[in-house]
Amino acid sequence: MAGWVNPLLDSRDKRLPRIAGPCGVVIFGVTGDLSRKKLMPAIYDLANRGLLPPGFALVGFARRDWADENFAELVHDAVRDHARTPFREEVWARLSEGVRFVPGSFDDDASFDDLAAVVADLDEQRGTGGNHAFYLAIPPATFPVVLKQLARTGLAARNSDQWRRVVIEKPFGHDLHSACELNEIVNDVFPEESVFRIDHYLGKETVQNILALRFANQLYEPIWNSNYVDHVQITMAEDIGLAGRAGYYDGIGAARDVIQNHLLQLLALTAMEEPLSFSPGSLRGEKIKALSAVKLAEPLDETTARGQYTAGWQGGTKVVGVLEEKGINPESTTETFAAITLNVDTRRWAGVPFFLRTGKRLGRRVTEVAVIFKRAPHLPFETTMTEELGQNALVIRIQPDEGVTIRFGSKVPGTAMEVRDVTMDFRYGTAFTESSPEAYERLLLDVLLGEPSLFPVNAEVELSWKILDPVLEHWAKQDRPEPYAAGTWGPPSADRMIAAAGRTWRRP
Ligand SMILES: NC(=O)c1ccc[n+]([C@@H]2O[C@H](COP(=O)([O-])OP(=O)(O)OC[C@H]3O[C@@H](n4cnc5c(N)ncnc54)[C@H](OP(=O)(O)O)[C@@H]3O)[C@@H](O)[C@H]2O)c1
Repeated sequence: MAGWVNPLLDSRDKRLPRIAGPCGVVIFGVTGDLSRKKLMPAIYDLANRGLLPPGFALVGFARRDWADENFAELVHDAVRDHARTPFREEVWARLSEGVRFVPGSFDDDASFDDLAAVVADLDEQRGTGGNHAFYLAIPPATFPVVLKQLARTGLAARNSDQWRRVVIEKPFGHDLHSACELNEIVNDVFPEESVFRIDHYLGKETVQNILALRFANQLYEPIWNSNYVDHVQITMAEDIGLAGRAGYYDGIGAARDVIQNHLLQLLALTAMEEPLSFSPGSLRGEKIKALSAVKLAEPLDETTARGQYTAGWQGGTKVVGVLEEKGINPESTTETFAAITLNVDTRRWAGVPFFLRTGKRLGRRVTEVAVIFKRAPHLPFETTMTEELGQNALVIRIQPDEGVTIRFGSKVPGTAMEVRDVTMDFRYGTAFTESSPEAYERLLLDVLLGEPSLFPVNAEVELSWKILDPVLEHWAKQDRPEPYAAGTWGPPSADRMIAAAGRTWRRP
């Protein structure tokens, strides 16, 4: 039938799976933690879901005297140990045909020349079409040398019908100045549209659900403002300590590691206005506007808090303090807990504080955005009947136990009009049969598809540092961070900080 388009086959149907076109990925830092636990398993999961092209190629680059087979073994073990989807021999057999390894160090020109030759070979043998993503899963100090090598060897260059993209992991710099320097170095080699900065929180279903919750419903948006919202608490609490990553963490700390990226992104999604569309430009434009309106509450002595965990009990196990952890400088002043108070200077949020906190070795592992509403202006009940009534709250649980909880007052069964807080729960695990893809699966696929919505742009990174820099400078002039026992919810100064604003922390 002329002119008829089967809707199931129409490529405009956004429900169809998006499959990457011919391409390959080069990973630098394949022997590292991130590659083994997240990247290689995510590549396998994408292959298993049929979302990679048939001739897909994975190239590893590392300081090991390995052949392709040795690297394939590393990938195999990483997949077996960490992949989300079941291991299938036929998927692995197909994927492993495209696995290559290039031995070398980042300052070794000859190794990068070899890499360029391998990439050109893959275009010939596997039909990767000149489309390659370079994933820098390496220490940030080594970004510049690798970028220079990619420029020198022509690996960053492409013909008009090809693409070359670079994927950069956080931390994007150490402060505003170093972030600007890094952005300059990156943009000297790759144009901004080819730069994919990973904030893996944006790849999480529950983080994207903030947008669905706010903008796909009529229920929440009318009350999503200072008329109804009292304050917002954004928490990322970890129960683990340094987990063997002291080398990375010492000198970076909780604020740079988590607030600058994950928590400020969560704030931007919570506070931003409705985008005109979900095009990358609109979405990022609204996040940029929200971050531009963020102001630190002052004085910083009262509106921020930082701490270091000491020995304590975690889930029935005795654990050491951060200064006794392996690999940490015993004199380290790096904070393992950070909390800050922000205002968003817009009509929507005037007078609504946003409290952000993150820490290691806290009472429980939880990440959530809690929107706490004002109390009802009048209660037609005797106070004794409503004694236990808190404030209404909408809590978006990012992880674990992904979902949304609404807290409200309800009548207690019985003859008296007694009102008590109850909760209404939505859980991803029970509401949907599909399991959520890992954040890295979604983000890696988006890199290969050239879909940039979920990657922060330069401006977002720089605005986030602009917000945080004064706090870091202030702390640098202070004494040591305040101690808190492992397994508790942070130092007393964090409680004082929120109490001074007339609020209390949630104990999730
Ligand atoms: N791990 C995570 O969960 C996580 C989460 C978010 C962001 N990140 C970021 O991801 C990046 C990688 O983190 P990671 O934890 O995987 O680090 P890692 O375990 O320390 O691994 C670093 C990798 O870089 C390689 N490398 C370092 N210097 C090199 C050189 N001169 N030449 C060749 N290879 C070199 C190492 O190879 P060798 O084996 O030869 O030393 C290793 O494979 C960092 O930017 C980190 O901030 C990590």
